[in-house]
Amino acid sequence: MKLKKWLESVLLLLVAMLSGALGAFVGVNIGTDVSDLPSAANVVAILKAHQIGHVRLYDANAHMLQALSNTGIEVIVGVTNEELLRIGRSPSVAAAWVNKNVAAYMPSTNITAIAVGSQVLTIIPKIAPVLVPAMNYLHKALIAANLNFRVKVSTPQSMDIIPRPFPPSTAAFNSSWNSTIYQLLQFLRNTNSSYMLNAYPYYGYTKGDGIFPIEYALFRSLPSVKQIVDPNTLFHYNSMFDAMVDATYYSIGAFNFDNIPIIVTETGWPSFGGADEPDATSENAESYNTNLIRRVLNDSGPPSQPKIAINTYIYELFNEDKRNGPTSEKNWGVFYTNGSAVYPLSFSGSVQNTGNSSAVFCVAKDGADTDKLQAGLNWACGQGQANCAAIQAGRPCYLPNNLKSHASYAYNDYYQKMHNAGGTCDFDGTAMVTAEDPSYGSCVYAGSSNSSGGAGRSSSSTAAIAPMGSFGASSNLQVPILQSLISVISVFFALVSL
Ligand SMILES: *[C@@H]1O[C@H](CO)[C@@H](O)[C@H](O)[C@H]1NC(C)=O
Ligand SMILES: *[C@@H]1O[C@H](CO)[C@@H](O)[C@H](O)[C@H]1NC(C)=O
Ligand SMILES: *[C@@H]1O[C@H](CO)[C@@H](O)[C@H](O)[C@H]1NC(C)=O
Ligand SMILES: *[C@@H]1O[C@H](CO)[C@@H](O)[C@H](O)[C@H]1NC(C)=O
Ligand SMILES: *[C@@H]1O[C@H](CO)[C@@H](O)[C@H](O)[C@H]1NC(C)=O
Ligand SMILES: *[C@@H]1O[C@H](CO)[C@@H](O)[C@H](O)[C@H]1NC(C)=O
Ligand SMILES: *[C@@H]1O[C@H](CO)[C@@H](O)[C@H](O)[C@H]1NC(C)=O
Ligand SMILES: *[C@@H]1O[C@H](CO)[C@@H](O)[C@H](O)[C@H]1NC(C)=O
Repeated sequence: MKLKKWLESVLLLLVAMLSGALGAFVGVNIGTDVSDLPSAANVVAILKAHQIGHVRLYDANAHMLQALSNTGIEVIVGVTNEELLRIGRSPSVAAAWVNKNVAAYMPSTNITAIAVGSQVLTIIPKIAPVLVPAMNYLHKALIAANLNFRVKVSTPQSMDIIPRPFPPSTAAFNSSWNSTIYQLLQFLRNTNSSYMLNAYPYYGYTKGDGIFPIEYALFRSLPSVKQIVDPNTLFHYNSMFDAMVDATYYSIGAFNFDNIPIIVTETGWPSFGGADEPDATSENAESYNTNLIRRVLNDSGPPSQPKIAINTYIYELFNEDKRNGPTSEKNWGVFYTNGSAVYPLSFSGSVQNTGNSSAVFCVAKDGADTDKLQAGLNWACGQGQANCAAIQAGRPCYLPNNLKSHASYAYNDYYQKMHNAGGTCDFDGTAMVTAEDPSYGSCVYAGSSNSSGGAGRSSSSTAAIAPMGSFGASSNLQVPILQSLISVISVFFALVSL
């Protein structure tokens, strides 16, 4: 038993180190309006089994905080809207809250932030005047407990406080909130905290009444005639999610604050809805969340802030059957309470077989070194076992007859076959992934929606997994393999500890 515990912590530490090293993360919100909510220990077992390393609680439930201790999982705790008024009026209530709900669990439970209220400006605008004072009191209490460098204070807000989010470059907060927003941004900057954004393309799409194509909401590639471009910046928006995050960056920028990063504290898609909610389907939910995870884990920011990754929490872990409202409101969860998935979803970003909705292609980069490209092409068609027939003279992908085009075809063919087995799109730095289908004319790339199942996603051949040797790419390979190994082992431990 001791050995098991020890192994478990070593493995979780490894998972934590790996996910740290890999940059951006995707976590999950844990709502508890669930009639058969599992015990805290079982909730944590489900998190571990699915390699979820970041969670947000809506309160500071003692059982959950205890169960999350020594797991390596990072936790955002919540001040509820009901608690907010008293905290905002009294520094001593704030201090007691921090001592009871944060300090008492640190450091064994890794609490990294306090989310103060939930969408306060739109849900209970009356108490907006106490919001920033409450945040200040909590921050002062953290200073007193010497926790201010580890625990940040912020407050999740809805997109609804930005009345016209498109085009992002002209977005601005509703001016009724000027003074609260100004104080809030000042607080976030002074304390090095993030702006917490709840961003729901599901609502942007369903309330847009057909203004936006569904592909845009689901991170699917858009036909060239439907590209979404900001007319002022000429930035292309591949997804409504990116546009919402950028609208928020521009709204913050309009107050002359920069360097306040955004984290998305809620986003998701319901998997089931009422008769009047045709877009709430498990296909769309799977597509949205799968593509979201891939989007976030690519580590880039939105067009205006490409270097700031968008850490994101999916809404939500379980279907909350006790919630009021339309049917969809009860169906945002990604797991059932028995731990099985509502639809296939991998938090580690490894690609699930989700058909055409998540096509990602691997192509040669512009301006890549010619010798390296040639070596990559040779490797892919040789050891890599890509099917390079189509780029031979007279075949559909022979023209244009140049190295970049041939390498792209071969790289992609290799990648489509092998990425599930850990094959990477790297080729000594000459390759990149793209959501844009590179097919043209009769030259159809593997993985394209036009290809007749040629992607060979679950190819049983594992002879060649990734470029080795001269590519020095073995390190690219280790991470996915190690991750799946860890995943298998932690599932095992999760089951043992259930
Ligand atoms: C807690 O999370 C922070 C933020 O990622 C990390 O730097 C720190 O090492 C973690 N602490 C523990 C004890 O795991
Ligand atoms: C801004 O907020 C106020 C107060 O909530 C609201 O009455 C008004 O309609 C909002 N303005 C816009 C443009 O949404
Ligand atoms: C809010 O701020 C904007 C921009 O600074 C300004 O144009 C607007 O007049 C302000 N509104 C109020 C109600 O103060
Ligand atoms: C914020 O970050 C700056 C620079 O990284 C640092 O000097 C300062 O101490 C930090 N302040 C807080 C409150 O964390
Ligand atoms: C878990 O619960 C769901 C929904 O109630 C059910 O469809 C599924 O079969 C259950 N899975 C297992 C393994 O019991
Ligand atoms: C995905 O495939 C389905 C059915 O095969 C089709 O209806 C849908 O249009 C395709 N979507 C894309 C983006 O190609
Ligand atoms: C990451 O995603 C963004 C937004 O979709 C895209 O613009 C960018 O090219 C992607 N980067 C890579 C390396 O795939
Ligand atoms: C896919 O096939 C359709 C119909 O044959 C064609 O119009 C479309 O351009 C093709 N798409 C690509 C990316 O080749």
